[in-house]
Amino acid sequence: MPGPTLIIHGGAGAREGSHVGFPQYQSSLASIREAAWRVLLADGARAAVLAAVRLLEDDPIFNAGLGSRLQRDAAVRMSAALMDAERGVFSGVINIERVRHPIDVADALSGRQHTVIAGAGATALARDLGMEVFDPITEHRLEEHRQHLEGDTGTVGAVAVDETGRLCAGTSTGGVGYEIPGRVSDSPTVAGTFASTAAGVSCTGIGEHIVNHGAAVRIVTRVEDGASLDQAVAHTIAEADQRGFEYGLIAVDGAGRPVSASSRDMVTLFASRTQGEDQDFLSVNG
Ligand code: GLY
Repeated sequence: MPGPTLIIHGGAGAREGSHVGFPQYQSSLASIREAAWRVLLADGARAAVLAAVRLLEDDPIFNAGLGSRLQRDAAVRMSAALMDAERGVFSGVINIERVRHPIDVADALSGRQHTVIAGAGATALARDLGMEVFDPITEHRLEEHRQHLEGDTGTVGAVAVDETGRLCAGTSTGGVGYEIPGRVSDSPTVAGTFASTAAGVSCTGIGEHIVNHGAAVRIVTRVEDGASLDQAVAHTIAEADQRGFEYGLIAVDGAGRPVSASSRDMVTLFASRTQGEDQDFLSVNG
């Protein structure tokens, strides 16, 4: 049986245009990790991933949910995805508007016939599910938009395995900021979020690079084909560096090994916790 493991991230390049210092990111990630860890032990991997991503969406210092960046036309359009390895179902929302927790809509979709919904249809579905209208725009993001600040990165995510071996990955993003209205991020694609019983991955960084590399599904497939998670991630990041792709990721394998990695010049803010044979492993990197 694997030791339960949880790893969360607050984006690669998350501090791009930031108005708070690194200690604030560190403290937010550490407290969200602890809250989601308790959920992991009590209710399992899927509940823990949902809890972690919801808390990250609620924290305005991250670019997801409240505090998402604005697109060029001053609207916030958010995207999120969830993949639960036990069900083997990828579900997601693309460019949803005015909801507090895009990850909850992705969660609701995983039990339906059509599992990825975009734009107005996604927003209408959230209302059908009883989700209230929520304004995710903060003064800081408005000011970034006034300055036409075009970003490259910013996303949140979580990957967990519980003691029964159930693995789950989730990602949520406000996009890159000042992008063409309707641009689609990597997060609600299998390049940005993927999980099987072998491993789960959530990516962050330049969405177009992540999609061009098929990063998350590439790593999971390598593990399914016999590579260790460390080998699969190292191989994939080496390729990314060779091709000039810029992104970071978090991952967990079926045995509960957590890994975080970033391509050259990227820094992924993450926090993880593993219950192993010896003692809990705690780390916050940035
Ligand atoms: N990874 C965030 C984005 O490109 O939208």
